Amino acid sequence: MIQLVRGFKDILSGEVEIWQQIEKTARSLFEDFGFKEMRPPILERAELFARSIGEDTDIVEKEMYTFYDKKKDPVTLRPEATASVVRSYIQHKLYAKDAIRKFYTIGPMFRRERPQKGRYRQFYQINAEVFGIDSPLIDAQLIFLLATLFSRLSVTDAKVHINSLGCSTCRPKFKEALSDFLLSAKEKLCSDCTRRSKRNPLRVLDCKVPLCREAIVGAPSVLDFLCSECGSHFEGVKKSLEKLKVPFLIDKRLVRGLDYYTRTTFEIQTGLLGAQNAIAGGGRYDNLVKALGGPDQPAVGFAIGIDRLAEITGLEIKDFLQYPDIFVAALGEKSQSIAFEWICALNLEGTRAEMDFAGKSLKSQMKRANKLGARYVLIVGEKELEEGSVIMRNMMTKEQILIPIDGIIEKVKEKL
Ligand code: HAM
Repeated sequence: MIQLVRGFKDILSGEVEIWQQIEKTARSLFEDFGFKEMRPPILERAELFARSIGEDTDIVEKEMYTFYDKKKDPVTLRPEATASVVRSYIQHKLYAKDAIRKFYTIGPMFRRERPQKGRYRQFYQINAEVFGIDSPLIDAQLIFLLATLFSRLSVTDAKVHINSLGCSTCRPKFKEALSDFLLSAKEKLCSDCTRRSKRNPLRVLDCKVPLCREAIVGAPSVLDFLCSECGSHFEGVKKSLEKLKVPFLIDKRLVRGLDYYTRTTFEIQTGLLGAQNAIAGGGRYDNLVKALGGPDQPAVGFAIGIDRLAEITGLEIKDFLQYPDIFVAALGEKSQSIAFEWICALNLEGTRAEMDFAGKSLKSQMKRANKLGARYVLIVGEKELEEGSVIMRNMMTKEQILIPIDGIIEKVKEKL
């Protein structure tokens, strides 16, 4: 038997209803907050991710599904959506009429990570990206939007962690101090961190290896190095979150796994998922649009992991079971063909109607209607066709009435 590829999964009925509910709730919230949907492709040039996420990150170094197409161009199954949204914003000059744009996008991402609970090689994200706004108010509004979404989806354990990574003025000083600190702890670092500690020391703060985590205890805090602009921006985010009554924690180690961030970074973490505790993450990336060849526009955004969110929402699967309104039990070929016309007509009218397609006995058709949880059953055979009326049975009360075949669709709908 051909099985799934490792790290990939099917999202089946029973779970998919939760996903639909998550996506529906997110879409309606985004529309209320003025976001427009965008659907970038799943395949992009490999260079787009290398240049935006950063060459030294785990994603780019180890996790991308990159291959050469027939023309020998390296292409990548997107590991995240931000780079694509930025590419699109630049390529289609979406800034031309108004630089302030808000987009959301929902879809699959691909990272070749070690699969485990909450970590898949194809996973899904809901992304939000805002371009053209510098103000810390928008950072806070995005976090507020996330908190609102989680509360609407009955997520009980979700904590907001925030940090600031400074800007190109203040971050170099922090990087230098961190590099010096890491030099003194170099025996404890894994080979990746040893390599990165000079070139990109922030990556070491994000390493999951236990010894590296130990080694960074006592490392300098980025917050002590913020310039006055970055400091007051971070203060602005905190004040606005307080105003919006969103509780948060300041997490000076929160650097995130992508290189494009500047200033605010945030994550929503939960205790319900074991090691993969981040259900959403994001932050500012004020330099990325320009770095990829666009105008000098600030940007901020986030992504939610739908797979992880679906595992911890308080939504109950049974809420989404769809019971047929009516099951048509038809006996004999002629009745079956008429029943088929009826169920199609009822489906068109928005009624959940089902029938048996295998020509089974009345007893087994009634059994199936029961199993599906049908509210009513219509029973039609040769005799009913001759007499011009069918039996309609209420499966709860067991009450049966006769319905004339003439105008049956309207009459059934009246009774439902
Ligand atoms: P990220 O932190 O890499 O950020 O991913 C965001 C979320 O996607 C994570 O918090 C997690 O819930 C989910 N996720 C990531 N990897 C996996 C995986 N292998 N399996 C299941 N879920 C996963 C970004 O992707 C940024 N683009 C977010 C962003 C948007 N920043 C600014 N704008």
